[in-house]
Amino acid sequence: MKARIVALPGDGIGPEVTTAAEQVLDKVCNLFNHDIKIDERLMGGVSIDKNGIALTEETLADCLDADAVLLGAVGGPKWDDPSAKVRPEQGLLTLRKEMGLFANLRPVSTHPKLEDSSPLKNERLKGVDILVVRELTGGIYFGEPSCRSVDQNGNMYAVDSMIYLDYEVKRIVQLACSLAKGRQGKVTSVDKANVLESSRLWRQIATEVAHDHPNISFNHLLVDAAAMHLITKPSDFDVLVTSNLFGDILTDEASVLTGSMGNLPSASVGKSGPGLYEPIHGSAPDISGKGIANPIGMILSAALLLRYSLKLEQEAKCIEAAVNLALHDGCRTIDLQHQNTLSTKQMTKAIIDRMGNNIT
Ligand code: IPM
Ligand code: MG
Repeated sequence: MKARIVALPGDGIGPEVTTAAEQVLDKVCNLFNHDIKIDERLMGGVSIDKNGIALTEETLADCLDADAVLLGAVGGPKWDDPSAKVRPEQGLLTLRKEMGLFANLRPVSTHPKLEDSSPLKNERLKGVDILVVRELTGGIYFGEPSCRSVDQNGNMYAVDSMIYLDYEVKRIVQLACSLAKGRQGKVTSVDKANVLESSRLWRQIATEVAHDHPNISFNHLLVDAAAMHLITKPSDFDVLVTSNLFGDILTDEASVLTGSMGNLPSASVGKSGPGLYEPIHGSAPDISGKGIANPIGMILSAALLLRYSLKLEQEAKCIEAAVNLALHDGCRTIDLQHQNTLSTKQMTKAIIDRMGNNIT
């Protein structure tokens, strides 16, 4: 097949892990005889430096026109001034919104050989296979007003608004229910309905959607309890659906189960049009340029791209199997173990070398 992907390597370790994913996609093209063209564009801090804004109209148009978008990471200390008018993260948020990517799928599963990389007790990690469905274009990330001001007593204050519309909740919970059908059929909706009005609406709509899916075992959990359950009984979860902010926080927490947040991929999808695929980790300025970043989250994001945007299931599985095999064989970057570690390039090669062995 023929496809065009826009790659946005971004900042920090973004370019290092994006190169890894591009090499893996190259290998897929060789093995399966596909023609996937990858165009790199600037987004994030690198785009602020060059263009004065994090995402130009032109790059946005390019992304909308592609079959899928692959993204490394954005942000870094250079652009972190709290009073700055432009921020790298704005590029990412604009992209998610303009591409209509209301759902962010974050699969979290443990690899038996990585149990020792997690600080949690090994027995808790057995059989963990969670799909977090994070709402991505609403909630407190996008609510207006979002501003600063000074009150009549001279106190500075800042406002962010957590707003959810009924249809935003409905479509994300519906998606969670339909994804649960191909899994264990269990959905946990996470909110803070004991305090927040937006969560009470969320719970009301989620309950209505659940009624339309009698074969799904559906339950609600408050976000504080969910944070605890994620590390005390993680294998109880199947599909976890939640709002933008709660999903952001809970997936960083859940990544600890897998040994490192460097392992986790994500797929952002909308009703139609190209999807956006990015690891859940950030630009990791502390290790950027050292060539030691874990490329797995990014490489698995490329697998999700093949699965969801290009409908190439066998190719996606080929990548996932190679990652599992490399981990099984003891290949590790420094975030997973302290000694005998591989560089980003070595880890990528280890994975690429294991692709194709499983093609029938
Ligand atoms: C993520 C990141 C982003 C988010 C940042 C970089 C804006 O933390 O994708 O999880 O908060 O969504
Ligand atoms: Mg995050």
